[in-house]
Amino acid sequence: MKNKKITIVGSINMDLVTCTNRVPVMGETVMGESFHTIPGGKGANQAVAAARLGADTCLVGCVGNDTFGQDLLSHLKNQGVHTGNVEPVTHSSTGTASITIANGDNHIIVIPGANYAVTPEFVAKHEQVIAESDILMLQLEIPIESVEKAVELANKHHVKVILNPAPIQPLSKELLQKVDYLTPNEYEQQLLFYSNEWTEKEREEMMKKCIITRGSKGITFYQNGKKELPSYKVDVVDTTGAGDSFNGALAVSLSNGAALEDACQFANAVAALSVTKLGAQGGMPTIEEVQTFLQNQKGNEA
Ligand code: RIB
Repeated sequence: MKNKKITIVGSINMDLVTCTNRVPVMGETVMGESFHTIPGGKGANQAVAAARLGADTCLVGCVGNDTFGQDLLSHLKNQGVHTGNVEPVTHSSTGTASITIANGDNHIIVIPGANYAVTPEFVAKHEQVIAESDILMLQLEIPIESVEKAVELANKHHVKVILNPAPIQPLSKELLQKVDYLTPNEYEQQLLFYSNEWTEKEREEMMKKCIITRGSKGITFYQNGKKELPSYKVDVVDTTGAGDSFNGALAVSLSNGAALEDACQFANAVAALSVTKLGAQGGMPTIEEVQTFLQNQKGNEA
């Protein structure tokens, strides 16, 4: 059987991670614990999550023509992500994310840099890889018009779309109605649908596409009504990239033909494992690690 192909159009960042026991208030200086440069970016994270789980994974995006860009490209290749559709650009530096981690939780400031070179024209140039995919996955760290273009191409070629609406920003009704799955967190879901723009009926229809990640409270999804899955109890080191791990795993499972509930359960386990190590991609598991975890966790949900 042909291996299913997952394509991600999205961001590639170098994460500049500072670990501290206490986050300073404005104007204050505190002494931190450690500093790390770690591969990240929501698009790249989702691609690495899918590739580690064994999927045939392509990433479409841009890095700068600089050391971070070169390091990120070779890292992606080492992780098994196809990078033939990642281009280095000369007019922008590689995207970065300044991340502060305190007590397992984080603050993030993203400088998009080369990720904004992923224009609608750039996406159109990579139509072929989208057309050949089983699932297209998108987030919001590239320009919105480029996300819209990618969705348009996926619809044209009957490719299913997962849109992870993060970091949240205003999205047109038209765009949201064209995607197959939406994976907001609780806050993002509220911002997307609880405006006067939506009728009650439209909102109900949209909720059927939503898989809502609720951190330690678990997952909510809709299949013949609202369903909830609890999260797994794990020792949390760093929650950065948990949502990306969830999305990557969801894409892998759905592309393999799993039922929605099974796909959510699988993605839930992958997200749980991902937070047990430092860095967005640090804890992303292989398929064997997920299987062992699920075996050990039977009847042990939080
Ligand atoms: O979702 C986590 C990611 O968000 C980080 O890796 C950082 O690069 C930001 O894009």
